[in-house]
Amino acid sequence: MTAELKNRRLSILKTHCAGLEINTEPAILESHGCDWTRFRKPDPAAVVFPRSIDEIANLVAVAFEHQVALVPSGGRTGLSGGAIADSAEVVVSFDRMRQIRDFNAVNRTLTVEPGVVTHSIQEYAAQQGLYYPVSFAAEGSSQIGGNIATNAGGIRVLRYGLTRDRVAGLKVIDGRGELLECNHGLVKNASGYDLRHLFIGSEGTLGFIVEATLWLVDPPPPSHVMLLAVSGLEAMMDVFRLFNDTLVLSAFECLSAAAMAYVRKGHGLPAPMDTESPFYVVLEFECAEPGVEDTALQCFEKCLEAGWVEDGVISQSEGQAADLWRYREGISEAITPYTPYKNDLSVRISDVPAYLADLDKLVNSHYPDFEVLWYGHVGDGNLHMNILKPENMPVEKFEDICGRVNPDVFSLTRSYNGSISAEHGIGLLKKPYLSYTRSKADIERMRGIKAVFDPLNIMNPGKLI
Ligand code: MLT
Ligand code: ZN
Repeated sequence: MTAELKNRRLSILKTHCAGLEINTEPAILESHGCDWTRFRKPDPAAVVFPRSIDEIANLVAVAFEHQVALVPSGGRTGLSGGAIADSAEVVVSFDRMRQIRDFNAVNRTLTVEPGVVTHSIQEYAAQQGLYYPVSFAAEGSSQIGGNIATNAGGIRVLRYGLTRDRVAGLKVIDGRGELLECNHGLVKNASGYDLRHLFIGSEGTLGFIVEATLWLVDPPPPSHVMLLAVSGLEAMMDVFRLFNDTLVLSAFECLSAAAMAYVRKGHGLPAPMDTESPFYVVLEFECAEPGVEDTALQCFEKCLEAGWVEDGVISQSEGQAADLWRYREGISEAITPYTPYKNDLSVRISDVPAYLADLDKLVNSHYPDFEVLWYGHVGDGNLHMNILKPENMPVEKFEDICGRVNPDVFSLTRSYNGSISAEHGIGLLKKPYLSYTRSKADIERMRGIKAVFDPLNIMNPGKLI
């Protein structure tokens, strides 16, 4: 049946999409049919590489007419299975759409194709004397279309906000094959529903982002990075409060002692300091004027006196800052070989210590034999819980065991009015749990919106809702 469906879809593409690059090599089907998650096997019919908006519009119109399921594929760094094609879908890769189309110095906007890599946007902005502030570990390979489709967050959210806050305009091909031009880069636009925001974070379920206009900001002043050994969860939030009230923080991240051990092992990093602690914080603060570094050191002294912090180091150069960031940014890559089961949770910032303490208790009672690592963006209330797969356990069994505890984890999250996905998206993996974070009425309205833009359910079917 699947082979028959795949052949049928392939022949539709070949007949109706003249000139479109179509690839069915097994290695490409495997690589482009999935993201960074390792819990589903990719099985697409083909991978196509459009080069223009017109090619995408024609492709979706053909898919609409013949009911062909389409899955968008960007840098494939997603962590919720949002870009997995495991049911004979046609994967639409944006690898051939990597042009930066326009820079407007007055508007401070950059207009880009969806396949432009996040890091290239940051570099291009810097060449213009400006700054694209969305930053995260996968920025070297993730693409802007995927960033927008998942409303990517990362390490600078507490200072600059999310990808959503950078999107000035969008061109989208919806599930009917029609081009929608949303907001045109306007700062003010009170002309009804802002469709742009529906597509941001929609995980490709309403349409494909085919062009984006992004707002850039002033380049940041010089900064320093501190890595602190903190004595516990409450203390971590006390440290946050003090530093956030006193300085301009551009990041406030945490990692547990176990995460520190894995990142050091994975990347061969030395111990950052002599003291070992249950948690570490990596914070960055801006130094717009002289004397800020002294103020930061006074904060550090206060933290030591209060017993919140046990030890710490501060960067004295850009190189040292980058070295300190590796302890936080290197974690995800370092633990990938252990097939981590990821939960990406968020609560209000002030609830972080109580929530994390409750969660830690819950997880330890359910997974006494598993290693559980914590890290995340404490400064915006986002915690990443990673359970590592024991070496000899089959992936299916591991996923099943982890899945059994999810209802408890998500019930607890619901009791804090938190979210079961802060920045990784719902995709395939978290879809069964959506009702823990969105009400019945919410989900019904979301289905209604989906039906408007994608009435035949051809856009990334089976994901999110
Ligand atoms: C991170 O914060 O490091 C990323 O969201 C990736 C991850 O959670 O592994
Ligand atoms: Zn993250």
